[in-house]
Amino acid sequence: MADHPSTHTPVGLSFEGKADDGAPPPVLTVKPGEALCRLDEMADPGSRAFMMRRGGEDEEIFVIRQGDEAFGYVNICPHRFVPLNWKPHIFLNHDKTRILCVVHAATFDMRDGSCLGGPCPGQGLEQVALRVENGIIYLAD
Ligand code: FES
Repeated sequence: MADHPSTHTPVGLSFEGKADDGAPPPVLTVKPGEALCRLDEMADPGSRAFMMRRGGEDEEIFVIRQGDEAFGYVNICPHRFVPLNWKPHIFLNHDKTRILCVVHAATFDMRDGSCLGGPCPGQGLEQVALRVENGIIYLAD
């Protein structure tokens, strides 16, 4: 049975990339089928990192919220196979219209992870299946 997201969410976190006290929020570990967080805990558009535990392995993923939808990706850039972000939970460009890899500035579509600009044309981010139910984002089974 999935944990209720309130058990994952420390009080006082805004998920704009910082907690109320200025510290970045923790990266929570989730398993397939479990809740990640509520949609309204994320900015719109906004992003947040998680650790996905699958088959005994942990893999960093991130979620993009856009309106009532959420899109998940593995945090590995297809250009050099390194994480896209330097700041915790921050995966969007300045105007929050694309996913940004800060290493060499590749940009990706928020809805399907395809490369829109930069050094990896024709490639894309590995998608992570999510579902949104009653305003809660879950990792798909
Ligand atoms: S590693 Fe991401 S653009 Fe080069």
